Amino acid sequence: MRILVTGAAGSVAQQVLPALKRRYEVRPVDLPDGDLSDPGVARRLVHGVDAIVHLAGNPDPAASWEDLHRSNIVGVTNILAVAGGTRVVLASSVHAVGQYRLGGVDAQRPAAPCCNYGATKAFAEAAAQAHAYQTGGTAICLRLGACTPTPPARQALELWLAPEDLQQLVIRALEAPARFAIAPGVSANSGSRWSTANTIGYRPAKDSAQYRTQVDDVPGWATCEGATA
Ligand SMILES: NC(=O)c1ccc[n+]([C@@H]2O[C@H](COP(=O)([O-])OP(=O)(O)OC[C@H]3O[C@@H](n4cnc5c(N)ncnc54)[C@H](O)[C@@H]3O)[C@@H](O)[C@H]2O)c1
Repeated sequence: MRILVTGAAGSVAQQVLPALKRRYEVRPVDLPDGDLSDPGVARRLVHGVDAIVHLAGNPDPAASWEDLHRSNIVGVTNILAVAGGTRVVLASSVHAVGQYRLGGVDAQRPAAPCCNYGATKAFAEAAAQAHAYQTGGTAICLRLGACTPTPPARQALELWLAPEDLQQLVIRALEAPARFAIAPGVSANSGSRWSTANTIGYRPAKDSAQYRTQVDDVPGWATCEGATA
C-alpha cells in the first residue's frame, strides 16, 4: 500500500513514520513539498497513493482563527476534495470534545470543542463524515491526546498517547474495514476520563500511571477551561 503522510516533519509524524515505513511504501511530505492550502498542491501530492495520513496542521490550542484557517480548515478541505475513493486518516484532537469534564468520554460523543483549535478539529470530523457519505470513500478521524514519548505534564497523564500506541492506532486506521469512524487517540491510562472504546480494533497497551510520580503540574498546560467549566 502506498501512503501519503502530510506534516511529515512534525512531531506526531516523526513518531509514527518509522512504523509506517516498515509496513508500507511511504511518501512523506511537508511544507517544502508545497502548501496544502493550495488545491493544486494537494492534487499533485495525493496522485497515485492508496491512502492518506493527513497530519499537516496547526496543533496550537491557543491559536487564533486567523492562524488556524489556512492549515486546519483549507488544508483539510483540499485534501478531502482530491481524495476521491482514497482512504483518509485525519488527525483530530481531544480538544474537539474538550468540554466534557466527566468520565467515560468516548468517540461516540458529539463534538463539544473547548477552543478555536478544537472547533477546527470538529469541523474536520464533520467534513470527513460528509466526504465518506458523498463519495463512498473511507475517512477515519483520530482524536489524538498528548503525543509525546512520555507524559509532558501531570494534566497530560489522562490523555497521553504513547508512541507505540500511536503507531498501532494509525495502522488500525489504515487497515480497519470501516467507511467512517472517529477513534480515541489515547493510551490505556488508569483513572482517565477518556475512554479507549473504538470500532477500528485499536488496543492500547501503554498506561501513563508509571510516570505519575515523575511529572509535575505545568500551569497553563494545554487544558482549555471555559467560563462555564
Ligand atoms: N502533537 C500532539 O500531541 C497532537 C495532539 C492532538 C492532535 N494533534 C494533531 O496532529 C497533527 C500533527 O501535529 P504535530 O504536533 O505533529 O504538529 P507539528 O506542528 O509538529 O507538525 C505539523 C506539520 O504540518 C506542516 N504543515 C502545517 N500547515 C501546513 C500546510 N498548510 N501545508 C503543508 N504542511 C503544513 C508543518 O510544516 C509541520 O511540520 C496536527 O493536525 C495536530 O493538530 C497533535
